[in-house]
Amino acid sequence: MWWYLPWWLVICNGNTALGVAIVNRLHGYRLPERLVHLSHKIHYLLLVIVPCVTLLVPGWFAPGLLRGASWSALHPGWWLVFAICAVTSLIFWGSVIRRHCRRTPTQQLRIQTQQRDIAAELGAAPVGDGPYRWMTRLPGNEVFRLEITQRDVLIPRLPAAWEGLSILHFSDAHFIGTVGRAYFEKVIAHAQRLSADLICFTGDLLDDMALASWLPETLGRLHAPLGRYYILGNHDWQLDMDAIRQAVNRLGWQDVSIAGHQLERDGHILHLAGSEYPWIDHQPTFENVPETALRILLSHTPDNLGRARRDRVDLMLSGHNHGGQIRLPVIGPVYCPSRFGCYYAAGLFFESPTLLHVSRGLAGRHPLRYGCLPEVTKLVLHRLK
Ligand SMILES: [Fe+2]
Repeated sequence: MWWYLPWWLVICNGNTALGVAIVNRLHGYRLPERLVHLSHKIHYLLLVIVPCVTLLVPGWFAPGLLRGASWSALHPGWWLVFAICAVTSLIFWGSVIRRHCRRTPTQQLRIQTQQRDIAAELGAAPVGDGPYRWMTRLPGNEVFRLEITQRDVLIPRLPAAWEGLSILHFSDAHFIGTVGRAYFEKVIAHAQRLSADLICFTGDLLDDMALASWLPETLGRLHAPLGRYYILGNHDWQLDMDAIRQAVNRLGWQDVSIAGHQLERDGHILHLAGSEYPWIDHQPTFENVPETALRILLSHTPDNLGRARRDRVDLMLSGHNHGGQIRLPVIGPVYCPSRFGCYYAAGLFFESPTLLHVSRGLAGRHPLRYGCLPEVTKLVLHRLK
């Protein structure tokens, strides 16, 4: 009779995994915010309802598997529910194993990381007056830390003239007021000390238009000899994108979302393009870009990797997934707003001919970080010797 309990755990697991998979994938499309929030509510409701109902109905009352009833008395509808949950559980654990088996691509030649406790450097946790402030006080929350990473990577088609080019990549600042301005000013100061040749920001700058006033003391403090380039993300899309672009452009940053930008060194072209697809229905074109040009794409979501590969992009920089923000033991990240779930949560991926770097971002709408530090990354590009 107690055989039902392991099955019940499979049902709970399958129900959770199915809800997470649907919610993650809905975030990967351009859908009205209300619909996405509704999916959250239904998911959270089912997280409670399904375990209770499956424990009480087939478990205790009809047919009462926990009280010794025969499995043959189980209604076919419940068999269907059990089968769906079992299959979803299998797929879920398969995806966890697949992520564990994934190796860092050999295109990564070297990695150096250092961690900073920004709250300790400031002398106090920089909590602002935004929403969800209570979350910043949860034990173990690492929202005010920072990981500074340098990755030396191999770009096979890198022209000799661009050997050693360094790119500062950061993403997802999510100015909402909860993580205070002092945190971002400190992070930007650390980032500026990395002395990169060019700087790229890959979207989700604001969650509150009023906090555009923070931009001069944050993005405005970053400088690089070859320029600063940006695109916007889905959270910016929910605000006034034109006003955000104007504010960032005034600081001397270059928007590459509509038109690309070319740099030239010893006759070798580096072409920078941007994609805010699917939230802005405009895809970059590489039609007039010379075959020999190095192609770098800023795309808010890593879901655009397939398109980037078709466009023979050499290096793609993304954010959006925040590394999942919370990484559970064994399981890893759970919630990632992607059509690929948490596969491209964060890190380096190579799918020929494109090397993809997904940043964990600096913050999020919800100030929660467990096992997933905010990050800035300096990528140093190398060519085949
Ligand atoms: Fe984001």
